[in-house]
Amino acid sequence: MSTYGEFPLSRPRRLRTTAAMRRMVAEHRLHPSDLILPAFVREGAAEPVPLGSMPGIVQHSRDSLKKAAADAVSAGLAGIMIFGVPEDAKKDAAGTAGTDPDGILQVALRDVRAEVGDDLVVMSDLCLDEYTDHGHCGVLDAAGRVDNDATLERYAEMARVQADAGAHVVGPSGMMDGQVAHVRRALDGAGFADVAVFAYTAKYSSAFYGPFREAIASSLQGDRKAYQQDCANGREALRELALDLAEGADMVMVKPGMPYLDVLRDFAEASDVPVGAYQISGEYAMIEAAAEKGIVDREAAILETLTAFKRAGARMILTYWATEVAGRLR
Ligand code: PBG
Repeated sequence: MSTYGEFPLSRPRRLRTTAAMRRMVAEHRLHPSDLILPAFVREGAAEPVPLGSMPGIVQHSRDSLKKAAADAVSAGLAGIMIFGVPEDAKKDAAGTAGTDPDGILQVALRDVRAEVGDDLVVMSDLCLDEYTDHGHCGVLDAAGRVDNDATLERYAEMARVQADAGAHVVGPSGMMDGQVAHVRRALDGAGFADVAVFAYTAKYSSAFYGPFREAIASSLQGDRKAYQQDCANGREALRELALDLAEGADMVMVKPGMPYLDVLRDFAEASDVPVGAYQISGEYAMIEAAAEKGIVDREAAILETLTAFKRAGARMILTYWATEVAGRLR
């Protein structure tokens, strides 16, 4: 910065003097249509079931999910990402409920499409962990490891039943090698060429998934480090990105959000497809807990994190606060 005499020549503070000035020069602006609401639906629930680890979030009943989807339309959201929570007794080693046409996710997809039509992009999580009794994202081999290629066959079947139930977009989130190509081929082969694939491309093994495990009543033993990415690796995410794009991903995601803004930025620069960020359960729970303790200003903290995703290059943001924030943006 140069000066003339004793005064600074440039004063960036001038553009920060009033709220109107700051609004005018803001480089990024959140809009309801940036936001996607992740939602859980629990089989057999007569009423929504609150989640202890995520205050304000529930496992929906079929009825309350329909209402949440209708509210999402009114709020102007981009979409909804639905996760099914089957009855405990229906979990098995193969995750059979995930490919049952009458499984909870498929039933919920039909409900939601009947409710919202094409006014909201209806997305489904495509992964087995909600449906397996061991809690892993795939089927296991004889040694108890997740069997990549056998899992791909299960994902292909999941893609077909989810598309048949009305998903506009499927989100393969299990971090199996080749999952995008397999899902794409399965969709095309079954007449669902228009169903898009939103790939969980860089999905890191994260401590911040904690509350999600309660949300889907997961019985996971051990961890997912043998298939999800290691937080030490950023360049590796670019390799995953190249693979998913080559395999036909229509949109790519980075997950979790806040600890991986560098990866998000890399994706936004390196790819020409829309990039999403998933602000996950633990990120939600942390801010809610801090706000409850009076440590942070809740609304300001939420908006700051969501704006940071846009600044880093996200086109779409999955956040459990989607509907609430959209209401505030209007
Ligand atoms: C896998 C899946 C997970 C989440 C979304 N899809 C969990 C995991 O990989 O352990 C986490 C979402 C969240 O924490 O909010 N089906």
